[in-house]
Amino acid sequence: MSSTSKQQVVFLPANKTVLVTRGTTVLQAVRMAGLSLPVRCDGRAACLMCKVQVEQPQAGQQDGLSDPGETECRKLGLHDERTLRLGCQARIVGPAVIHLPEDRLKQAIRRQLQQQDDDLSDW
Ligand code: FES
Repeated sequence: MSSTSKQQVVFLPANKTVLVTRGTTVLQAVRMAGLSLPVRCDGRAACLMCKVQVEQPQAGQQDGLSDPGETECRKLGLHDERTLRLGCQARIVGPAVIHLPEDRLKQAIRRQLQQQDDDLSDW
């Protein structure tokens, strides 16, 4: 496989698939898919807002992301587990399935609607 081969990345829950060049960061891939991740530090591993969850493959398979570097491990407190990654630091090296956090506005609206449902059910 060449170092510039395209890799398939699936973003959930949007269920969007994008082909990216090997070595692309998850954050770049998210943007290429027309999606967004909140960021404040512009990819310098400082704000920790770009956390994503990587779907773990079956035993013996890779999760499609580069190994976490020292900075990412320190910032996230990573040890052996690799499910939580920084989108600005993790690079795509193979097929990957990545769960993006729910948009904060949508999350707030969903919580408000749930609260209203709960309040109405008390009547
Ligand atoms: S963009 Fe700030 S930590 Fe990744």
